[in-house]
Amino acid sequence: MKRKKIVAGNWKMNTSWLEAFDLATAIKNKSEKIKGVEKIIFPPFPFLQMVKEIVKEEGDFYIGAQNCSEFQKGAYTGEVSAAMLRSLGCDYALVGHSERRQFFNESSTQLIAKINQAIENNLSVIFCFGEQLSDRKNNSHFETVNKQLLEVLSYFPKDQLPKLVLAYEPVWAIGTGETASPAQAQEMHAYVREQLASIFSKEDANELSILYGGSCNAQNAAELFACADVDGGLIGGASLKAEDFCTIMSSFS
Ligand code: PGA
Repeated sequence: MKRKKIVAGNWKMNTSWLEAFDLATAIKNKSEKIKGVEKIIFPPFPFLQMVKEIVKEEGDFYIGAQNCSEFQKGAYTGEVSAAMLRSLGCDYALVGHSERRQFFNESSTQLIAKINQAIENNLSVIFCFGEQLSDRKNNSHFETVNKQLLEVLSYFPKDQLPKLVLAYEPVWAIGTGETASPAQAQEMHAYVREQLASIFSKEDANELSILYGGSCNAQNAAELFACADVDGGLIGGASLKAEDFCTIMSSFS
């Protein structure tokens, strides 16, 4: 298996139905000629099916859910199960995003349960992790990231590795306009790959795609994606502008 190049757009809690329709349509039309990159959109739950309808003819286009329940089914008011997501044609689930960890107190135990639900229901997972600004200032960013990886990925079923994608998202760079420099991103991605080699195997680690996320935009994507261990991006703000998002998709050298 070869490492995939991936550009994923996380719309977070943005767009109305009509805005989502227009944005997905514009992204689909503008990105038709961009090949060799897996394109993923993570719209809000209520728009998943509509966005799927728009992009489904494109072979390299996928949709994902920004979250999924840690529970299988039943009396969990307000939750959305991995089985429901799969049944409407979802391909991916995001797990471990820092906003879920921070605002919804998601623990590693919950993240493991969510990953299990996703995998059991045939969804691929983008597992997000990354240090806080204070970790970087204390020079404990490698330790923090290693802990986040070990606590969750040690339980990841090895035979399902083709369904796993990683996303390094330093919290200080998310939505702040402050991006990790290419050198900082490469240093951390290389470190992550080393840790993945010890959790899984060197060969597996080489095949896993590791995305960068955190104020990645149309201006800085090319230099980030040129780094040896950066296999694409998880894009927040810039994925809400079709033109910028498609520029990012075509930023691989
Ligand atoms: P941002 O968000 O690109 O707006 O910084 C990235 C993310 O949270 O995935």
